[in-house]
Amino acid sequence: MKAAVVGAGGIGGYFGGRLAAAGHDVRFLARGRHLEALRRDGLTVSGPSGGFSVAPANLRATDDPADIGPVDFVLLGVKAWQLPAAVDLLKPLTGAGTAVVTTQNGVEAPHEVAAAIGAESVLPGSAKIITYLEGPGLIRHVGGLGSLTFGEWDNRPSQRVEELRKALDEAGVTAVVPQDIWAELWAKFLFVAPFGGVGSVTDAPIGALRSRPGTRRLLADAMSEIEQVARASGIGLPGDIVASTMDFVDRQPAEGTSSLQRDIGAGKPSELEAWTGTVVRLGASTGTPVPVNTFLYEVLSLREARSEERRAEGGAA
Ligand SMILES: NC(=O)c1ccc[n+]([C@@H]2O[C@H](COP(=O)([O-])OP(=O)(O)OC[C@H]3O[C@@H](n4cnc5c(N)ncnc54)[C@H](OP(=O)(O)O)[C@@H]3O)[C@@H](O)[C@H]2O)c1
Repeated sequence: MKAAVVGAGGIGGYFGGRLAAAGHDVRFLARGRHLEALRRDGLTVSGPSGGFSVAPANLRATDDPADIGPVDFVLLGVKAWQLPAAVDLLKPLTGAGTAVVTTQNGVEAPHEVAAAIGAESVLPGSAKIITYLEGPGLIRHVGGLGSLTFGEWDNRPSQRVEELRKALDEAGVTAVVPQDIWAELWAKFLFVAPFGGVGSVTDAPIGALRSRPGTRRLLADAMSEIEQVARASGIGLPGDIVASTMDFVDRQPAEGTSSLQRDIGAGKPSELEAWTGTVVRLGASTGTPVPVNTFLYEVLSLREARSEERRAEGGAA
């Protein structure tokens, strides 16, 4: 199996690193100081299960997809807002049968990639883990199951899905092939977007959000809106999805925050468009009222626009 990781950050570095450490031919497409460190020092992943590393002699990293050529699998680990540039890197990596596994939170990344390379080359996917790029060449696994869920676009069983599932399993990753990959993506979206949106406007961790009746209700209402948008989009979510997701909220460590909240708080580019922005857009296109998500989106997109102005001023100075 030959694989490429496009975007070797928290997700790409962790899952690609697991496959490389298990002896698979994995090529890392990276850039800047991270690329230099990968070439010089290899990849180090630290975490609750002890961590692992890939020595420089066994790690092949480049910034040019033409060096890699067609592969069997691409693990696409860039942030949602980085997708437009990243899909341009996919063409040299894609041959007949290549499968690009998307991992972005949200429900639109597979469609964005499919628009560039065709739906037959996309395996929609979702990661359940908490990882981040701690520094060049260093990934920190904080927690979470460490699982990757993926499937064919139309959920049919396939040899390539089975091959990837087996390779990940053997590499110590819980690989899940669900009956309906779209329902999986939407179920995670229904947790992540409200958690991100309400957390970002309040700048509070999940323990505070769930324990105050008002913010708890906001979370549940934002989830119910997403459930309605999903149903209007033909997605079959379980009938108790909001209750079971609130149970999941209650089981999270109290200090947890979303990457959206951390990125917006730090004035960095964020995945707001792919999370709350998507709820608002799909709400409009399906005729589904989404007032809570619209409020969250308007507040946060203004805040994000002001951060963007500040970054532009900083860059121009
Ligand atoms: N991390 C998690 O725990 C987690 C869990 C579940 C889902 N997700 C989802 O997974 C996706 C990836 O998140 P992440 O946390 O792994 O992000 P991340 O740590 O920021 O990693 C993205 C990596 O892609 C690189 N990259 C972006 N564009 C590139 C390009 N054109 N060429 C080469 N490298 C490029 C970035 O490099 P630069 O720094 O140079 O831009 C960065 O190293 C997100 O959609 C996120 O919501 C993450």
